Amino acid sequence: MDQLARPALPFSGHDAVEAYLSDGYDRVVGMSSRFAAAICARLLRLQTEEGLKGPIAEIGAFEGRFFIALAHALEEGEIALALDIFSWPDPGVEQRFEANCDRHGIGPERRRTIKGDAGAMAPADLLAQADGDRLRFIHIDGEHSRVALGRDLALATACLAEGGLIVLDDMLHPGYPTLMVAVQAYLEANPDIVPLCIIDRETIVGATKFVLCQRTWFERYQTRLLDIFKDFVWPLGADFEPHWCLVLSQDTRLAEIV
Ligand SMILES: C[S@@+](CC[C@H](N)C(=O)[O-])C[C@H]1O[C@@H](n2cnc3c(N)ncnc32)[C@H](O)[C@@H]1O
Repeated sequence: MDQLARPALPFSGHDAVEAYLSDGYDRVVGMSSRFAAAICARLLRLQTEEGLKGPIAEIGAFEGRFFIALAHALEEGEIALALDIFSWPDPGVEQRFEANCDRHGIGPERRRTIKGDAGAMAPADLLAQADGDRLRFIHIDGEHSRVALGRDLALATACLAEGGLIVLDDMLHPGYPTLMVAVQAYLEANPDIVPLCIIDRETIVGATKFVLCQRTWFERYQTRLLDIFKDFVWPLGADFEPHWCLVLSQDTRLAEIV
């Protein structure tokens, strides 16, 4: 698609992220949308504005497309952990991940590459990779099965910092309908965690993401989101029965009923 014909993106809050999204993001092979990357980078800036600091992580970093955008949104001295089995679709993916990070300005001092199975990782092992600091932002985009998502959610929850955010990729994706079952079970078992917002999909590959937060942070975050993303709020919101949260979309129209 022609760059000029693309729908508008929210401001990511970081010049380095803006530069990467406009020139670089599309050249790194990956699956997350630019819309979601811009929003998640802005969420990281919002956390900074709220006084939060610390490491972040992505489960399923692949070639680094989304990871690089997140890492550019970090503050001085913060690091990003990239966890992946790095064997799909071939063993060269780890080398391509490292090369992409170097090429797009995320040097070794700002990233930790962890080759391994998230399902076999204990929270203490992941936290040790972050020098013992809890994680303020975790993007889950690893194995797309119901069981694996449940395990990744448990790992993320155990490592989450106060005020932290957990972002889930490929939600409501037609190829992975049972992931929603894992999310619903997780929310029922973890009433302290609630959906903060839904980031609508751009395409079938650049799919919908859910952003989760601690219930005690929901109002505080939502108030800021309503202002920051006011041009992207779909008016009806999402009904999680009985919890409601924002839907952020590049298409905020309602159905015409007359
Ligand atoms: C959809 S790709 C991730 C795309 C990337 N996050 C992006 O936005 O461009 C899924 C990744 O999850 C990784 N993966 C699958 N199972 C995993 C597991 N058990 N532990 C860690 N990573 C896993 C795969 O190797 C693959 O790189």
